[in-house]
Amino acid sequence: MSFNTKKYKGYDQPIKYEYDQLLAHTGQGTPGGEYLRRFWHPVSLSSKVSNIPLEIKILGEELVIFRTKKDQIGLVHKYCTHRRASLAFGKTENKGIRCCYHGWLFSIDGEILETPGEESDSKQAKFIRDKFRLGAYPVKEFNGIIFAYLGPMDKIPEFPHYDSYEISYEKRSPYLVKYNCNWIQVLDAIMDPVHTSFLHGQSSGIQFSKGFAQLGEIQFYEKGIQYLGANIRRVEENVWIRINELILPNFTQAGAAFAADGTKTKYFGRSSFTRWVVPTDDHSCVAIAWANFGDRGDPIEYDNNEGYEKIEAGEISNRSSEEKQRSPGDTEAVEGMGTITAHKSEHLMPTDQGIMAYRRHIKKSIEELKEGKEPEQPKKYVGTIKTYGQDTVLKAPKRNIDDKKLLKSIGSHIMKLQFETENLSMKDRDQTIFKKLSEIEKKGIF
Ligand code: FES
Ligand SMILES: [Fe+2]
Repeated sequence: MSFNTKKYKGYDQPIKYEYDQLLAHTGQGTPGGEYLRRFWHPVSLSSKVSNIPLEIKILGEELVIFRTKKDQIGLVHKYCTHRRASLAFGKTENKGIRCCYHGWLFSIDGEILETPGEESDSKQAKFIRDKFRLGAYPVKEFNGIIFAYLGPMDKIPEFPHYDSYEISYEKRSPYLVKYNCNWIQVLDAIMDPVHTSFLHGQSSGIQFSKGFAQLGEIQFYEKGIQYLGANIRRVEENVWIRINELILPNFTQAGAAFAADGTKTKYFGRSSFTRWVVPTDDHSCVAIAWANFGDRGDPIEYDNNEGYEKIEAGEISNRSSEEKQRSPGDTEAVEGMGTITAHKSEHLMPTDQGIMAYRRHIKKSIEELKEGKEPEQPKKYVGTIKTYGQDTVLKAPKRNIDDKKLLKSIGSHIMKLQFETENLSMKDRDQTIFKKLSEIEKKGIF
């Protein structure tokens, strides 16, 4: 047997497992962890938080979340201030949570209200009540999702109000999907419109609608901390523009998963999910989202757990390893890299431009924060943060010009239209976009 000695490079190219620590580390005291602690993040679903405390991990911190008997939500450090019993075994009361071990009672903002085993006016009991608190974080419950702010209290930003909250979807259903890998791996997929054609269309068969298998023209836009990746596909006489969106650090939207395939005209269909990717620790994360149903989202028949998983990752989670190999979804693609991928061994290509740009921006913000410059928060226009995730399908038959050029020109037109209308109210923006789309479609001005 003879082998060409020039060709086999296994030995010469040893695998380097070096990863980007600025991006991957999210714990307390790490530069990336500090950056992430300047934003509100979803941490749990309302439906999971009850009078029975729930243990959760966010940004590497072990926490307990609970509802008092008066329906107030507390998010506190897991271990009791006294001798570190887990408050997951605590009892919720009207005023807060009581540790199971010696009955200390804590309010939702961490005040030590009672130390019942001690003389209440003893010097030590007074001292501990005055000088110490249980670590606690502010929370906001909104439409079935609980958000928290884990950063320094003098830097707490306003709770962001996205326009997506005002879109008249038929229904929004909160969901949570876990990933066993670093948050950046999951986040990358949103700025990677090309994977939708391969993973969700060609490699695994059709996971969303048929049109996904088509390779489109890709365009990226950067607008402050908003990143947009457009995939513009030709579907017979139509042109389908799908825009994926990331608002730093971790807010994501796109178009519909099942309702759009480029075969029917559609004007400014909005995202089938409004979603955040939140690190639980450096080796795992959760996607917490609303799945959006109705004319501008996905069909209501997907309003169940399997439906949310399919919208999230193209496939359901509970499958045999053989099924996963036969038809991998996002979970398999991103978890298969290992829990923290070796960023330094990647070979980023022109189609990875969106990924390169947003990662660079995050790293810059992390470095700037080290020097004392606070990261930029999403910008409001007329009371809401305008978002761009959408599908538009226009009738635009091929012409005598290079079709790629036509697709690109249509993509740029639509993006421009979205940017030009961000100073309008939600209703006016919708109406203006609908009107202009209909005009340009009729006149064929691209
Ligand atoms: S450990 Fe919690 S009260 Fe003693
Ligand atoms: Fe995907």
